[in-house]
Amino acid sequence: MRHVLDITDLSVNEIEELINVAQDIIANPDDYREVCKHKKLATLFFEPSTRTRLSFEAAMLDLGGNVLGFSSANSSSSAKGESVADTVQVVSYYADIIAMRHPKEGAPLAASYVSNAPIINAGDGGHCHPTQTLTDLLTIYREKGHLSNMTIGFCGDLKFGRTVHSLVSALSRYEGFKFVFISPSELMMPSYVKANVLDKNGLSYIETESLTDVMPELDILYMTRVQGERFFNEEDYIRLRDKYILSPDKLTNAKSDLAILHPLPRVNEIARSIDKDPRACYFKQVQNGKFIRMALIMKLLGLSK
Ligand code: CP
Repeated sequence: MRHVLDITDLSVNEIEELINVAQDIIANPDDYREVCKHKKLATLFFEPSTRTRLSFEAAMLDLGGNVLGFSSANSSSSAKGESVADTVQVVSYYADIIAMRHPKEGAPLAASYVSNAPIINAGDGGHCHPTQTLTDLLTIYREKGHLSNMTIGFCGDLKFGRTVHSLVSALSRYEGFKFVFISPSELMMPSYVKANVLDKNGLSYIETESLTDVMPELDILYMTRVQGERFFNEEDYIRLRDKYILSPDKLTNAKSDLAILHPLPRVNEIARSIDKDPRACYFKQVQNGKFIRMALIMKLLGLSK
């Protein structure tokens, strides 16, 4: 039994396999309609979600399986004081695979020790979000045709933004990526990511507060929301939340084939007027998320078409 708690739980070859399967699902959805017949996915979301939970559920339904679960801690017995470990052990008697989100870093790891079913980390606090990363990799691959030799700028809340931690970790294993981190000083990429992922692998990066200065260099711009729910201080959140707002004027010196990504939800950081720009890829990410999660569910259950 395998769990996916971190993107590095999957090798580069396995990610390539998942991307290939996802692309085949996109091209031939009918071939996959019964692959998970009689299988059940449980979605245990102790923290709010729209995309991740519903795309997991849509993925399992499109594979012919069934879904059960809860969308908030308050609607489960954790509201009565039940531990995460007990909750997960119980659900693993009912489901074949579990996708779990929790506000505490490491909760899915703790769950994996007691679960009788594969655990997929659907986001744990400010730590990581491996299936968003699979979504991002599929999107970059489909937009650019390859996963190598590009400059990617991460902009916004790089401290609490778990999707950026996972994506940097993933891209550090591919050839020739250059990393540009654009954030206010309070929300810089955590030093543990820089030390354990970038420095350890001899990968260089640039840190700056100015999106405008670096825009012409970027092949990919990964915008992020300032994660208000992880701030200790409302005043700091209000001061920082609108630091970067991507509007059409900010794109005047951008590459014509720039890919603009955002894991969503967005608040103010991308103006609605950008949505019609052919470089905006964030709603394509949403669509890709379901297909790559279908591929991952199949892989962890040992199923193929
Ligand atoms: N990208 C993402 O994790 O979105 P949700 O919080 O809506 O699941």
